Amino acid sequence: MRNIKARVIYNNRVSAGFYGMSIRSAYLAENTRPGQFFEVKCPDGSGTFLRRPLGAHRIHKDGVEMLYEVVGKGTAALSGMKAGQELDIIGPLGNGFKIDRTKDKNSEAILVAGGIGVAPLVALAEALAARKERKIQVFIGAKTKSHILCEKEFKKFGCEARVSTEDGSKGTKGFITEKMDVYLSAKRYPLNAKIYACGPDGMLKAVAGIAEKYGMQCQISMEERMACGVGVCLGCPVKTKGALGYKMVCKDGPVFDTREIAW
Ligand SMILES: Cc1cc2nc3c(=O)[nH]c(=O)nc-3n(C[C@H](O)[C@H](O)[C@H](O)COP(=O)(O)OP(=O)(O)OC[C@H]3O[C@@H](n4cnc5c(N)ncnc54)[C@H](O)[C@@H]3O)c2cc1C
Ligand code: FES
Repeated sequence: MRNIKARVIYNNRVSAGFYGMSIRSAYLAENTRPGQFFEVKCPDGSGTFLRRPLGAHRIHKDGVEMLYEVVGKGTAALSGMKAGQELDIIGPLGNGFKIDRTKDKNSEAILVAGGIGVAPLVALAEALAARKERKIQVFIGAKTKSHILCEKEFKKFGCEARVSTEDGSKGTKGFITEKMDVYLSAKRYPLNAKIYACGPDGMLKAVAGIAEKYGMQCQISMEERMACGVGVCLGCPVKTKGALGYKMVCKDGPVFDTREIAW
């Protein structure tokens, strides 16, 4: 982990309220794994004191890319940054997703994204696709059609992508967890599949329940408000089943096995 000043290569609006920012850093390109995140300093004048955590969305040859939703002061200020400006960034942070090797040609990776939770799963899909070991099934859920992101990227990596929206404006109407449950219930078990998910807490809890129902291993990337980002301030606890009772999302996560979490 390093504190770096990296040049912005582009910072494009990808959909209403969503931006993709790519920065140049050989160090981050070489050292970042899918599921890890960065603590980003918002530009001067943003009125923010704390850095903002953003996940690795793509890991390129010459740098990394973040995909973010404008939800407040910090992300609004980031959205105004232009190519060539300098971004103060600390990373990579956290543990990232674990990817097991497999020789089973029928094994699957089930990726489940809720809203902007799609961001880190694109980097994961790219890494999984590069291994050519598992079929990749992606389930993308969001409130409306305009909140559905990255479907094309997933397809480019050879993933099968399914979509649902809460208002029915794209894909099936309803929660993406329902669609995932229907897909899994039609499979023969035991299925050699791993689930990876990122999204709002309610969705993650539902995914964990489905994983438990089918006896499948499931990793989730969790979000908490963060300050230090490195396990010092104890500001991002998540309740776990272990003896300590709590772990820090920034240092022990953000990726956890769902069996660890005390929901
Ligand atoms: C490990 C990690 C990875 C993340 N990756 C991404 C990413 O790839 N893309 C992305 O768009 N966002 C990501 N987030 C969430 C992102 O950090 C927040 O949206 C951001 O900090 C908001 O800053 P702000 O100043 O714009 O909003 P603020 O003014 O700070 O808050 C605006 C609203 O957003 C909510 N909020 C703020 N921070 C969080 C948080 N950490 N989790 C949930 N709600 C929050 C607040 O409760 C409030 O309602 C990630 C968070 C974590 C912990
Ligand atoms: S943000 Fe400080 S301990 Fe996690």
